[in-house]
Amino acid sequence: MRKKIVAGNWKMNMNLAEGLKFAESVSRYFNNKPAAKAEVILCTPFIHLGGVSAILENSKVASGAQNCASEESGAYTGEVSAGMIKSTGAKYVIIGHSERRSYYHEDDAILNRKTSMALKSGLKVIFCCGEVKEERETGKHFEVVKRQLGNGLFLHSGKEMAEVVIAYEPVWAIGTGLTATPDQAQEMHKFIRQLVSEKYGKEIAEDMTILYGGSCKPSNAAEIFSKPDVDGGLIGGASLKLDDFTAIVEAV
Ligand code: PGA
Repeated sequence: MRKKIVAGNWKMNMNLAEGLKFAESVSRYFNNKPAAKAEVILCTPFIHLGGVSAILENSKVASGAQNCASEESGAYTGEVSAGMIKSTGAKYVIIGHSERRSYYHEDDAILNRKTSMALKSGLKVIFCCGEVKEERETGKHFEVVKRQLGNGLFLHSGKEMAEVVIAYEPVWAIGTGLTATPDQAQEMHKFIRQLVSEKYGKEIAEDMTILYGGSCKPSNAAEIFSKPDVDGGLIGGASLKLDDFTAIVEAV
């Protein structure tokens, strides 16, 4: 059965005390409610992850990281391995976010390695893809997403794909207030599911959770999530406000 997910991506926001307090309020909110229709995940900075994972233990909310190292361990100053992330109690890691691709020059080969490390460590992967504005305007968006998935993700086995969630995030919609229309999201999500089906077969494609990300907010979430191939969202800015984030979860 295909799972619905709403994941908050805090990016580089909130100090430790603020982050722990916020995680407590999210946990309290969902624990006092009947089970949400979507799995709720908080993807925090590394600094917060141990504390947030402890707060969320036995709650209805899961934790995740926003990145992991492409190597297993050793002399890689400043890096955090997938195994370390797993040891905090976190369940997920975001890989291939457009901010990692563009500001930190993470290419398909590195993202493929990071995905391998994460899966090997027992983490579930939220693998991001999406085109920039110019690629959309010149009609290259399908080709770009196909390449990102083909080179960064599809080298993994069908069995491993059960531990993967794909997030389509058009870069021109991230943090800009511009959102893909529900039809644009559906068109790309359907295309992605088709690619998964061609590579891994229909069953794996039908089970694959595909999230939309990019200026998703309470006012547009329900319409985007109503599309048949949109299985939830990866939420940046709106995940930092309790009311907005919970309203988006409830829009599923
Ligand atoms: P946004 O970010 O919701 O602030 O546009 C989404 C993301 O980058 O994951």
